[in-house]
Amino acid sequence: MSPGITRLEGRVAVITGGVQGIGRAVALRCAAEGATVIIGDLQDDDSTAKQIVADGGQASHIVMDTRQRDDWKRLMDEAIGGHGRLDMLGNIAGVTNTFGPDNVVDLDDIGWDHVVNTDLRGVWLGMQAAIPRMLENGGGSIVNIGSMAALKGLENLAAYSAAKGGVVSLTQQAAMEYGPRGIRINCICPGTIDTPILAGITDSMKKNFEAAHIIPRLGKPEDIAAAAAFLFSDDAAFCTGEILPVDGGWNTKGSAG
Ligand SMILES: NC(=O)c1ccc[n+]([C@@H]2O[C@H](COP(=O)([O-])OP(=O)(O)OC[C@H]3O[C@@H](n4cnc5c(N)ncnc54)[C@H](O)[C@@H]3O)[C@@H](O)[C@H]2O)c1
Repeated sequence: MSPGITRLEGRVAVITGGVQGIGRAVALRCAAEGATVIIGDLQDDDSTAKQIVADGGQASHIVMDTRQRDDWKRLMDEAIGGHGRLDMLGNIAGVTNTFGPDNVVDLDDIGWDHVVNTDLRGVWLGMQAAIPRMLENGGGSIVNIGSMAALKGLENLAAYSAAKGGVVSLTQQAAMEYGPRGIRINCICPGTIDTPILAGITDSMKKNFEAAHIIPRLGKPEDIAAAAAFLFSDDAAFCTGEILPVDGGWNTKGSAG
């Protein structure tokens, strides 16, 4: 939780994937810094919103699917209708390919569509829905979530890396288009973060993930939330189109050692 920082006071945020993992940490951090948070998630679970309210903040939960344009409209209507404005969008929801192999040859259409529709199309639909609303109140800030898979070759992440690489490029494109009109759009590329998305990894995989970082541990969701809150805030007023690894130094570290 933020130590008494109120950088986001009075701002209205839509955060996807806020039920668990990184999205939950981002939602809690933004609320702790003063934002009103509307969480959009596939899961019908309002525990994050309830936690925020119990902590004295403002939050609501909407069941939605980031792949569906109509769901984005409902989410925006809630933000604008309920609170009169939209200042922040966190495109955090994402998936890996749980349907089968994710290497280029064995990957099938179901896996490709699931990952690319969620991780890339969902981010595009989110920005498409949010940007016009932000322009109505003179600007805003968007944080998308990429991955180290967008920046370097990793095994068995073909659809995922394609989608996350698309998020990086789309972030830069959108930043170019809307920066001059007051909307800053940035992308965080996390290292391996200890969230439910890692369910099922073996101890040896965990050790390898930890060893890939210069800081030899898995990241915490709060590590990403701290970076997201910075990018949302006016402290990042001169940051747009930035691709920010928050990865314990993984992107810097050589392959040996
Ligand atoms: N955990 C990591 O190591 C890591 C590393 C790099 C990037 N990421 C990215 O960070 C983001 C969050 O990952 P996480 O580890 O917290 O995952 P997670 O699985 O713990 O949480 C993902 C959340 O997104 C929601 N969600 C999934 N599909 C959705 C959809 N179509 N519409 C609405 N909500 C949906 C889920 O219900 C869940 O609450 C993802 O974009 C992921 O790709 C994670």
